[in-house]
Amino acid sequence: MKEKFIVFEGIDGSGKSTQFKLFCEKLREMGCDVKETREPTRELIGDLISKRLKEKTDLPGDVNGLIYTLLFYADRIEHNNMIQKELEKGKIVVSDRNYHSTIAYQQSQGFDTDFIMDFHRKLVKSGHVKVPDLVFFVDLPAEEAIKRIDYRAKQKARVEIFEHIKFLKKLRENYLKLKDVLKDENIKIIDGTGTKEEVQERIWKYL
Ligand SMILES: Nc1ncnc2c1ncn2[C@@H]1O[C@H](COP(=O)(O)OP(=O)(O)OP(=O)(O)O)[C@@H](O)[C@H]1O
Ligand SMILES: [Mg+2]
Repeated sequence: MKEKFIVFEGIDGSGKSTQFKLFCEKLREMGCDVKETREPTRELIGDLISKRLKEKTDLPGDVNGLIYTLLFYADRIEHNNMIQKELEKGKIVVSDRNYHSTIAYQQSQGFDTDFIMDFHRKLVKSGHVKVPDLVFFVDLPAEEAIKRIDYRAKQKARVEIFEHIKFLKKLRENYLKLKDVLKDENIKIIDGTGTKEEVQERIWKYL
């Protein structure tokens, strides 16, 4: 397999983490040395982001958007260092979310797109942010995602600020535009409807 750095993306509740886990299991069965990772990370800055995502803030959307953008990229720059080291060890690195999330989410919150894109391109150019070899965007209509989130919430209390239908619809539109916005042919849109196994099968068709 030539792809070494692979990312799973999608709106809340689309099934990213489910597909990510199945995918990593299958890679291991095939004898690959896999490093599973995620954003926000479970390091200091990542933990701070996760904590903040569960809290309401009175800040205006653009200020909040700027704070999240800076926090997520700070976490990502550290993450990138770790990813690089794992790749050098010969591992396949698979990440549950990456910069595609920051771009799509902050745009959906009305934050300045030009600012994020400029900032992002500079960080890619300087080598602080790594472009994945392959991105699977697990695509699911917002209505379906909300149903899955409700089901999951009944199993464990976990509601985050982004899990509202109107927001998820806008978010999905922004995700679907990313392939063009980022001019990245390695972003693959995967139909996320159907059973977990059906979705996983669609993913493997690309490899
Ligand atoms: N194909 C599927 N059919 C039905 N339910 C599913 C499917 N895939 C995942 N689920 C269930 O839907 C819920 C959301 O899935 P998952 O946690 O993988 O989504 P996610 O995209 O990682 O969400 P988040 O963005 O909140 O991390 C979980 O309870 C999961 O078990
Ligand atoms: Mg998840």
